[in-house]
Amino acid sequence: MQADLPLADPRPDRVAVADQVVLLRGFVATAPLREAIATIERSAPFRHLATPGGGRMSVAMTNAGAVGWHSDENGYRYVDVDPLTGAPWPAMPAAFADLARRAAAAAGHRDFVPDCALVNRYVPGAQMGTHRDFDERDLGQPIVSVSIGLPATFVWYGATRGDPPRPVPVMDGDVLVWGGRARAGYHGVRRLRAGADPTAVRHNLTFRRAR
Ligand code: SIN
Ligand code: FE2
Repeated sequence: MQADLPLADPRPDRVAVADQVVLLRGFVATAPLREAIATIERSAPFRHLATPGGGRMSVAMTNAGAVGWHSDENGYRYVDVDPLTGAPWPAMPAAFADLARRAAAAAGHRDFVPDCALVNRYVPGAQMGTHRDFDERDLGQPIVSVSIGLPATFVWYGATRGDPPRPVPVMDGDVLVWGGRARAGYHGVRRLRAGADPTAVRHNLTFRRAR
């Protein structure tokens, strides 16, 4: 007779951050994602966008997909062409779309087909202020947010900026999904701390259905 061995749980660790905000811990192996980002940035380089208020973002951004998120003195919006190069954004890698669909489904949102992968790059010291993702046409579609590289602290607030903050440690391979009643929730990312390797950075992919 064989002894009963405890079976490893094949499901990713899942944490309810708030109503309709789900953290899927260790959902994805990130090496292929890093390679895909390196390819994207060869044709659409990272840039620090201007904000409508006259500032400049500490997070550097680029996009893949039919549309890309952009910000300048005229406001926040999605654009078909990269304003930096005048060329269309690089195509969304099939592996990105597949990951976004699987993560959304794991959080209860079926048939998610993103048309934008916004790629964020945080070096130590970079942060993302409290905001909500509100420039997309159909707020019935979720947001899928993938963490790559250095750990960070994502903060979920809720319906208002004044809601009590819920800090969420996000590590390489973690995926956060918010949608439904949480879709327009406020969130941000705390100032990134340096890792042991001073050249290490954090990338984040947010998948959106913009149009
Ligand atoms: C975002 O809110 O768009 C980025 C989230 C993150 O970097 O984890
Ligand atoms: Fe966001």
